[in-house]
Amino acid sequence: MCGIVGYTGPREAYPIVITGLKRLEYRGYDSTGVALLNGGLKVYKKKGRVADLEENVLGKDLHSNIGIGHTRWATHGEPSDRNAHPHTSGSGKLAMIHNGIIENYAQIKKELLNKGYHFTSDTDTEVLLNFIEDINKNNECNLEEAVRIALKRITGAYCILLIDEDDPETIIAARKGSPLVIGVGKGEHFLGSDASPMLEYTKEVVYVNDYELAIVRPDELILKNLGNEKVTPFVTKLDMELAAIEKGGYDHFMLKEIFEQPSTILDCLRGRLDANAGTITMSGVQKNIEALKSAHRIIIVACGTSWHAGLVAEYIIEELCRIPVEVEYASEFRYRNPVINKGDIIIAVSQSGETADTLVAIEKAKEQGAVIFGIVNAVGSSIARISDGGAYTHAGPEIGVASTKAFTGQLVVLTMMALKIAKEKGSISDERYRHLLQELADVPEKVAALLKNADDLKIIAEKYKDASDALFLGRGYNFPIALEGALKLKEISYIHAEGYPAAEMKHGPIALVTETLPVVFVATKDSYHEKIVSNIQEIKARKGKVIAIVSEGDEVIPGLADDVFFVPPADELVAPILSCVPLQLLSYYMGIVRGVDVDKPRNLAKSVTVE
Ligand code: M6R
Repeated sequence: MCGIVGYTGPREAYPIVITGLKRLEYRGYDSTGVALLNGGLKVYKKKGRVADLEENVLGKDLHSNIGIGHTRWATHGEPSDRNAHPHTSGSGKLAMIHNGIIENYAQIKKELLNKGYHFTSDTDTEVLLNFIEDINKNNECNLEEAVRIALKRITGAYCILLIDEDDPETIIAARKGSPLVIGVGKGEHFLGSDASPMLEYTKEVVYVNDYELAIVRPDELILKNLGNEKVTPFVTKLDMELAAIEKGGYDHFMLKEIFEQPSTILDCLRGRLDANAGTITMSGVQKNIEALKSAHRIIIVACGTSWHAGLVAEYIIEELCRIPVEVEYASEFRYRNPVINKGDIIIAVSQSGETADTLVAIEKAKEQGAVIFGIVNAVGSSIARISDGGAYTHAGPEIGVASTKAFTGQLVVLTMMALKIAKEKGSISDERYRHLLQELADVPEKVAALLKNADDLKIIAEKYKDASDALFLGRGYNFPIALEGALKLKEISYIHAEGYPAAEMKHGPIALVTETLPVVFVATKDSYHEKIVSNIQEIKARKGKVIAIVSEGDEVIPGLADDVFFVPPADELVAPILSCVPLQLLSYYMGIVRGVDVDKPRNLAKSVTVE
């Protein structure tokens, strides 16, 4: 959600900024803009894609050694040229880009209007920028001080980059609640919402913390807190190559990421799970094992797909560890004054590690003394950094808006974590523990095997492409997978879809069943098998169309269903990691036949950094 790029140094800034913005396109946006300094401030901005801006600036003088660029996801004001960032101040000397929301902007705007300021956009960003300029002019302080004073007065979230015509080598940056990474080069600095815009230039980065302000010049990086005290920048070495954020021969990032799962799951298991030795090594879990073993309750907070991973974990942790688990939407949890007792553990699950609702939810829980565990994919992200412990999913950068490989990574990490706690607690038999370790170790090979039949789902997608609605049903460990299948189909194909526990269907959704309604059953071989067979029969009796995800060797469901996709047999506790993959492919192929831009579906952002 909104992408931010900046550069100051000896190179041409425009190509670095534009390429960086393209790398951040996955975050979701509706307009683009850049500001350069070349004998004065030059601002170019356009509603639409980065490519539209590039076309728009053809033939213009883009020479500049400093630049800031932005992809905007509209919050205040419709997507339009005039609401696109960068915004310029009343004097025309300052330009600023902003990711986040200034909650008290209306009050500040009123004050500025009374002072005679005019606004050319509907954005909160233009208000903040003029507020800074106003402080700068009237308080006789320099720009850095003015930024600090302004930021102390505003409420909300922000990551800002600001340039000044009168100081043509400096970018002032600050963050609270929205990510900011600074790449340290030789005599140059790069800024980004994540590290992808700077990957080919430097591997040394500084993750800026909330309430920090950076003064960035080609050969100088000064970091301060809002109290004007210097903070030592903590330089981290990036463990990421450019290839990881490119399509590698696939038509779309989403397809590439689905097909990467055998190796991302292996990466997630690597160095942690040793099925022969019967061990799971997870240092973040080990460090807090006493708190986890004796937890009175585990509360999982997350959004979207990550919330579905939390639901699967609820079933697994309660089964193996006998610890009560609650799974909460972070957006509800943060506002509803939840009861958090001593002995409760909070697990935050997030691909991006920047989801605003999840971040604030755990900040609030932390204030109440809870121990926070982060299950996060993006290394160095905000959630990872504020957690007391946790584990990375190691799925690598996920660019497609749909979460696919990060989801299977979350399932693997949460399952390993449950197994480790159960083993330490003694709530699992040795035999079951060993069996499940082997089952987990076998998952990458089984995912690779089912991916070989991906074309079968292409045919199914073609057959049902004109459906206006779909139902996804599952029981037990596969119930959250039904929810996830419905979410994937909605976001990637724009077909309205609902997920339900299969038995719940009789309590309402069955009214929707007609000859044209596809009903997807996630029905791998497990202890609920006979029950789900009855549910399939109930749909068939009403002439609904059944698409079933079943285990190889199932002799019953293929005889009932209209279309079947087979996955390798697996223990029911591990089966969700397999059964979700055909649903990812089904939504991908549905999106493709329906002409959707699957990597960037409408209205969606990869990283939801506003509430
Ligand atoms: O980065 P997070 O895992 O915290 O993101 C949470 C949701 O925004 C995300 O899972 C969203 O639902 C995806 N588009 C699902 O594919």
